[in-house]
Amino acid sequence: MVRSSSFLKHVALAILLAAGVQADLTTGIPDSAPPGYEEWISPIIVPAANVTGQGDWGPYVQRARALVATLTIEEKVNVTTGADVGERCVGNTGTVERIGWKGLCLEDSPLGVRFADFASAFPAGINVAMTWDVDLIKARGLAMGQEHKGKGVNVALGPMTNMGRQAAAGRQWEGFGSDPFLSGVAVTNTIDGMQSAGVIATVKHFIGNEQEHFRGGSEGFPIYSSNIDDKTMHEVYLWPFSEAIKADVGAVMCSYNLINQTQACQNSKVINGFLKQELGFQGFIMSDWAAMINGVQPALAGLDMNMPGFVQYGDSNQANPAVATNSWWGAELITMIQNGSVPESRLDDMVTRIFATYYKLGQENNYPPVSFSQLTENTYLNGQLVNEHVNVQDDHYKTIRQIGAQSAVLLKNTGSLPLSVKKLKRVGVFGSDAAPRPAGPNSCQDGTSDKGCDEGTLAMGWGSGTANFPYLIDPFAAISQHIYSIDPTVVIEGVLLDYAFAANAPVASNADTCLVFVNADSGEGYLNISGNAGDRNNITLWHGGEALIENVASQCENTIVVQHAVGAIIVESWIDHPNVTAYIQAGLPGQESGNSLVDVLFSDSPQAYNPSGRLVYTVAKQASDYPAQILYTTNVPAGYNPQITYEEGVNIDYRWFDAHNIEPRFEFGFGLSYTTFSYSNLHISSGSHWRREADHHTTTAHTTSSATSKAASSTVASSSAKASSSVATNATTSAASSISASASASASGSASVNASTTATAPTSANTTTPVINPIGGPSALYEQAASVSFTIKNTGHLSGNEIAQLYVSFPSQYAEPPRVLRGFSKVEISAGRSTSVTIPLRVKDLSVWDVVTQQWVLAQGAIGISVGSSSRNLPLSGTLHL
Ligand SMILES: *[C@@H]1O[C@H](CO)[C@@H](O)[C@H](O)[C@H]1NC(C)=O
Ligand SMILES: *[C@@H]1O[C@H](CO)[C@@H](O)[C@H](O)[C@H]1NC(C)=O
Ligand SMILES: *[C@@H]1O[C@H](CO)[C@@H](O)[C@H](O)[C@H]1NC(C)=O
Ligand SMILES: *[C@@H]1O[C@H](CO)[C@@H](O)[C@H](O)[C@H]1NC(C)=O
Ligand SMILES: *[C@@H]1O[C@H](CO)[C@@H](O)[C@H](O)[C@H]1NC(C)=O
Ligand SMILES: *[C@@H]1O[C@H](CO)[C@@H](O)[C@H](O)[C@H]1NC(C)=O
Ligand SMILES: *[C@@H]1O[C@H](CO)[C@@H](O)[C@H](O)[C@H]1NC(C)=O
Ligand SMILES: *[C@@H]1O[C@H](CO)[C@@H](O)[C@H](O)[C@H]1NC(C)=O
Ligand SMILES: *[C@@H]1O[C@H](CO)[C@@H](O)[C@H](O)[C@H]1NC(C)=O
Ligand SMILES: *[C@@H]1O[C@H](CO)[C@@H](O)[C@H](O)[C@H]1NC(C)=O
Repeated sequence: MVRSSSFLKHVALAILLAAGVQADLTTGIPDSAPPGYEEWISPIIVPAANVTGQGDWGPYVQRARALVATLTIEEKVNVTTGADVGERCVGNTGTVERIGWKGLCLEDSPLGVRFADFASAFPAGINVAMTWDVDLIKARGLAMGQEHKGKGVNVALGPMTNMGRQAAAGRQWEGFGSDPFLSGVAVTNTIDGMQSAGVIATVKHFIGNEQEHFRGGSEGFPIYSSNIDDKTMHEVYLWPFSEAIKADVGAVMCSYNLINQTQACQNSKVINGFLKQELGFQGFIMSDWAAMINGVQPALAGLDMNMPGFVQYGDSNQANPAVATNSWWGAELITMIQNGSVPESRLDDMVTRIFATYYKLGQENNYPPVSFSQLTENTYLNGQLVNEHVNVQDDHYKTIRQIGAQSAVLLKNTGSLPLSVKKLKRVGVFGSDAAPRPAGPNSCQDGTSDKGCDEGTLAMGWGSGTANFPYLIDPFAAISQHIYSIDPTVVIEGVLLDYAFAANAPVASNADTCLVFVNADSGEGYLNISGNAGDRNNITLWHGGEALIENVASQCENTIVVQHAVGAIIVESWIDHPNVTAYIQAGLPGQESGNSLVDVLFSDSPQAYNPSGRLVYTVAKQASDYPAQILYTTNVPAGYNPQITYEEGVNIDYRWFDAHNIEPRFEFGFGLSYTTFSYSNLHISSGSHWRREADHHTTTAHTTSSATSKAASSTVASSSAKASSSVATNATTSAASSISASASASASGSASVNASTTATAPTSANTTTPVINPIGGPSALYEQAASVSFTIKNTGHLSGNEIAQLYVSFPSQYAEPPRVLRGFSKVEISAGRSTSVTIPLRVKDLSVWDVVTQQWVLAQGAIGISVGSSSRNLPLSGTLHL
């Protein structure tokens, strides 16, 4: 990587900006888009907004400001730039020696403390999302937060909330699936959990980092540009980040890729514009590791921290950031301030944001010191004590086992499940995915690190989003142990190989129950595993999984398929096989994998669990049915960055299948139970806090229930509308739909701000005064606008959990997908019993992003409301008028 030398003076830059030219902030050269992509260029939003101390942040920002005022420039730079001491955490800021401040430890990953011993390996993000259980999501966040803190980590590098735009995307398992609303709920609860333990959470990767090929960083150039239109950006990709910011997340990490030709960590539209203005973000934003490709531009674009400090992997260790010159910042940042390219107030704001977050999380008070090393599990490194082996696992294995069981998605069951040991005589278990990893849970036979191999049972993907297993309960061991504990006379034979068809034959043909284990892996792009450079090359099974299923099913009438896959798998060649009686997607369940599986397979497990996991992505019948594919080879002339234009717009995943009438194999939100549920009695209320008139308002909500084929009586606002609640707009006027004031910047450069409302982000490139929204955007967005209630009955013979899902259909003028998820609720119901469920809808949930006025607009007209057990099984429907 060559550092471009910047030659234009700040003055020249200012002239370019004044002329309205969209330019690289450092070089002054307009970003060059390949032919045909000229409209996909990010505007420039400067200057960077200072932290304001709004919300709960006031005292912490004040305290941070007071401290920053006493620091020297070297000390301030130290706080912003990684010291890459490296023996301790994957990221370490410099210290402030004079006041005894030890710096911050930043550590992966979104599923545990990476590189640490005596810490837990949690289920992946995709699995906890598959539980659709906010309590479990929060419990996992809390447990991970406690473990990070227990090891001395100040800043945990998760949660990750990329959207899985492409089914084969390498890192999608680290996130929460392909729906923004679900991801928003998942990030919110993960962050709440993590930060309540005292660790700073980091929501990532900001933004448009939807594939690994050409992502930049250690993969080198060229880096792809994610070209995302404004509506899609707000309604899909930015949504989870806005929810994270509303949840007061302390940190954001910008990604490697470009957005509209500009690298994420120097894209002023996304950092200054979206994060700091439109979303009122009060914390700090760090670079992904070695993601920066420049120094001045990121500083002006709003970046606050350079991680891990060096320019590129392979650079020498920089012990002291303030004098380091092998960094885009460090000593270079001092030069930038001295030569006038970056104002010192920008540096002050970086440091203020970092310390404000540190204070807000209470980390100045007896925070545990770092007690591990990312380089070794040994006690000593170069004669220094680096690992104190602090055991932070507590009883988190319980939560891990629960999440594993509750995330398993039962996709087919002709009646063979659940199993009961008393009915078994002879069991066959097939496939390497049922077995322990031959080189140990944390190693590969060829020595590849970071879980970079698909050997033995798969319980997490590969890359930086991993953690070490303290142990890994493999399925064969857990199943054998369970059966043995009840009846040691049951024959259990494991053929734990993938191609041992000769050995399969006598076992499969004589067993009453055959369990076939298959998987598919993926991960981060710096590892290329079996030719898969992060992203999967296909969305079928690895090491011959299909052939193994066929082989066993051809000889065994009761073949149960268990799959540990990072995402969707095409199952057409075997799913309808008459001998395949059940199919479970168990995903990436973490260290308790086998135990969790036993809980859903066996009704006689002490912790038996009736499956309730639901897909958080669509399983298509063929790969080409998906709206977007990985870009494996460049699509532009040499010398240009590959271009990934989000042509499907807001129609990702199930929205695309719905919009184009494509029948999926298993739809988003789908999953079976061992019992059955029915829905009835839909009531839709425009119970609005934001509408002042609501007290006197006869609701216009009309309800129909297709389940009962009866028009329900019209309802009144269920939530007593309180005129006293803080309402941002006078919403009873014709401007009722304006959630926030228009912020269209006037020609003079000052954005107009309406009375009681804080404006949305300015769109002009020459705005001089940043207009800063409340945290997460206008607060009215988060007020309740309506509520939907209905009844669910457990019509089967077994107690179970149902995941009720609510989808909204916007009136056609808004060009929205046929249906979007806007609420869900997990409820446990005993056999034969009914439960009433109420799902609130916020103003934001019923709004669309207006690209002209740059604000959320509450939908007018008839809003369709559908309720049911998946995105395509929606027995109740009605209409809401606001
Ligand atoms: C500011 O931006 C507006 C809208 O983008 C543009 O019309 C105007 O010419 C710009 N003003 C200056 C002084 O550059
Ligand atoms: C990217 O370009 C599109 C098309 O011009 C535009 O709608 C969108 O707002 C731009 N986004 C960013 C972050 O620059
Ligand atoms: C940030 O605050 C500093 C110090 O008060 C001030 O000089 C600077 O202009 C502010 N920057 C912005 C963008 O408001
Ligand atoms: C900056 O951080 C480095 C690394 O921790 C430390 O050696 C140095 O003393 C710090 N500088 C100051 C001025 O505190
Ligand atoms: C100021 O210093 C920075 C860091 O060395 C350098 O990149 C930039 O080109 C310099 N700018 C000017 C105007 O000299
Ligand atoms: C990954 O490895 C395969 C085979 O080993 C190779 O063909 C491919 O080019 C590699 N991909 C990348 C992006 O390096
Ligand atoms: C899909 O990729 C996996 C992993 O590289 C490979 O084992 C399998 O053979 C591939 N499937 C097809 C149909 O190419
Ligand atoms: C199902 O299994 C039986 C053996 O029990 C076998 O005879 C039959 O051919 C299998 N069916 C198919 C379609 O393979
Ligand atoms: C905001 O103020 C502008 C200028 O006064 C006005 O034209 C516009 O209608 C107002 N918008 C709202 C939502 O009140
Ligand atoms: C909202 O309505 C109240 C009462 O009618 C009025 O006093 C106030 O000025 C209005 N605010 C805005 C922003 O229009």
